[in-house]
Amino acid sequence: MQPSPYTPGEIARTIPGRLQQLADFDERLSYLVDLQRLVGRIRVDHAPRGFGKTSLLRQYQRRAQERGVLTIWVTAGESGGLIPQVAAEISRATSGWRDEARKAVHSRLESLTVRIGLPGIAGADATLRTAEDASAPADSRAFEALVRAAAAGDGHSGLVILIDEIQSADPEGLRTLAYTWQHLQAEGADVPAAVLTAGLPNVSDAVAAAVTFSERFAYRPLPPLEPAAEELALAVPAQELGVQWERDALEEAVVVARGYPYMVQLIGDAAWAAAGRPDPGVAITAAHVRIGRDAMEADLEALFRARWANASAGERDFMAAMASIGDDAVRRTDVARILGVSSESLSVPRARLIDKGFLQASGRGTLEFTIPGFPQFVRDLGQD
Ligand SMILES: Nc1ncnc2c1ncn2[C@@H]1O[C@H](COP(=O)(O)OP(=O)(O)O)[C@@H](O)[C@H]1O
Ligand SMILES: [Mg+2]
Repeated sequence: MQPSPYTPGEIARTIPGRLQQLADFDERLSYLVDLQRLVGRIRVDHAPRGFGKTSLLRQYQRRAQERGVLTIWVTAGESGGLIPQVAAEISRATSGWRDEARKAVHSRLESLTVRIGLPGIAGADATLRTAEDASAPADSRAFEALVRAAAAGDGHSGLVILIDEIQSADPEGLRTLAYTWQHLQAEGADVPAAVLTAGLPNVSDAVAAAVTFSERFAYRPLPPLEPAAEELALAVPAQELGVQWERDALEEAVVVARGYPYMVQLIGDAAWAAAGRPDPGVAITAAHVRIGRDAMEADLEALFRARWANASAGERDFMAAMASIGDDAVRRTDVARILGVSSESLSVPRARLIDKGFLQASGRGTLEFTIPGFPQFVRDLGQD
């Protein structure tokens, strides 16, 4: 008996199918480390929950660390705001630095704390730079100075700031970040720093609501996995434990997972259990996958029920109407027709459902469920 090598709900150890993202990142990283240049655009990998954003961001972090870069990780949305969060992490990460480098960072941290802590100073600060941009947030210069000191490092080759769940960041924090990067772009091209972020599909709305110039942000949708990547995600961890997946077992598992990384881990885990947590030399068969799928469906149903309980009556009506049309992208006007209301009156439930991660906008006026299997669950509820 061997424990499952799959990681449902945890950071993936390897991320097959994400070669493009990693190649893009490596190129930016080389620019930062080898040329000691600023990466001028803030990258945003976005997708619904369970698509592998956090796992991807952790891989970026590992690669940056391997190249001697100081990495700062924050999950946005905690109280206090994005900039204080980043500052606190920088403070923690640099506390063991040698004299000069630590002093440089800590004096910048102090003046940033003054800016954040004493809003009265904002007025004076703004007058100082009306010449360039009166609307820049009061703390953006202090934050920029901190970024410069941290990027100079203590024998490091630069600074990479990683922000997960960026759609939850406070608007002021997003503004400060965007202004800082805009300013560095103009005057700090030689500062070896980068910002990599991940967020839900509505992230561009959150950014646009906070910042007027969003061309500083490079949005990249993180797509579902191709079947070949799903097969690798299933077969390789097993192989490392001496266990083979049979061909048709892999094919069935891919049908279950439908490109959704979380589901890949769930079906892998469930098939592994169904095969009796195999010893080396044992194979995983299509029969194991089918038993695993049935077991997994009970878990999924619990998950779906919990999410459904989290929706209001109006939001449920919206989703029931959508699900009645089918599993694929649905036009908002069709939902309105089924509910017998105007399309405009659906703006609020639509926005809420996107914020809560149930739905994503998938094209001009169309919407999709984010989790495979959820529309079927909703249809089944209607029959109870
Ligand atoms: N490339 C990948 N291949 C297979 N499984 C993955 C991959 N990326 C992530 N996962 C798995 O998918 C699930 C969701 O990953 P996570 O990084 O938490 O996604 P998100 O942050 O988008 O919600 C986890 O169980 C993780 O182990
Ligand atoms: Mg995540």
